[in-house]
Amino acid sequence: MKKKLIVANWKMNHVFDEAQQWLESFSTQYEENKTALENVEAVVCPPVFLIDFLDGELLDLNFEKVDNLMAQSGEKIEDLPEDELTEFVLNDRSILLGAQDCHFEKSGSFTGDISAQMIAKLGATYVILGHSERRLTHLETDDLVAKKIKAAVDAGLTPIVCVGENKEVRDRKGHLEFVYKQLLLSIPKDTKYPKLVIAYEPIWSIGTGLVPSADEIAEMMKLIARIAKEKLAGLVDELFILYGGSVTEENSAAILAIENVDGLLVGKASLDADKFIKICLS
Ligand code: PGA
Repeated sequence: MKKKLIVANWKMNHVFDEAQQWLESFSTQYEENKTALENVEAVVCPPVFLIDFLDGELLDLNFEKVDNLMAQSGEKIEDLPEDELTEFVLNDRSILLGAQDCHFEKSGSFTGDISAQMIAKLGATYVILGHSERRLTHLETDDLVAKKIKAAVDAGLTPIVCVGENKEVRDRKGHLEFVYKQLLLSIPKDTKYPKLVIAYEPIWSIGTGLVPSADEIAEMMKLIARIAKEKLAGLVDELFILYGGSVTEENSAAILAIENVDGLLVGKASLDADKFIKICLS
């Protein structure tokens, strides 16, 4: 069964203490609800400087967990065969890590930027690309997003590609055409994707409390699924289509029940670990 993909986008929020508390709270509740969360892949995309920190915290939490489990059976962590220890400590993660952007070059004179390779080295496996806040405030074009997607895939990262129309386009009912073009121009067709995530985030819904109706979401999801089938056939091994925009612990279950919705991209509500775990459990 395909897992639900629930992604936290912290944007420019949280520093070390808050991130540590968030992870502790998330991990505790994750352990308490492990069976219910079996079919959920949770991802957190913090500000980039926190990726390495959270990766270390996740390692520590796993060491502690294994240590406690071994102690219960009167054994020590040193008694565990190395491959089993690696499996428990490195691979058994409550949450995966992602970045919120990357540069398209591997390295070079790009002050303030970070490459996909560097992000991968920090311990991330995902990267959000083409978020509307970057398209608007950093003037990112479809062409630039396409280059970044290619770089991310080359570095072994899974791109979470954001698309979505603004209010003006929605009001004149141009949203389907807008997203169709955005997807075709943003997603390179000369790349093979082991996993590709497309997030539909209507700009008018982000941070506003306004959420499209179930029919409106379903209509867009159907279009994205059809584009992927027709235009990206053979290129994508695993495709996930997410909805994002004012997702809360109250509306998440209803949105996840809509056809073709494989998961959620959550901004504001993801800053609170209790709310985020509720969304994962919905
Ligand atoms: P929001 O943000 O959940 O706060 O609306 C979503 C996003 O921008 O990814």
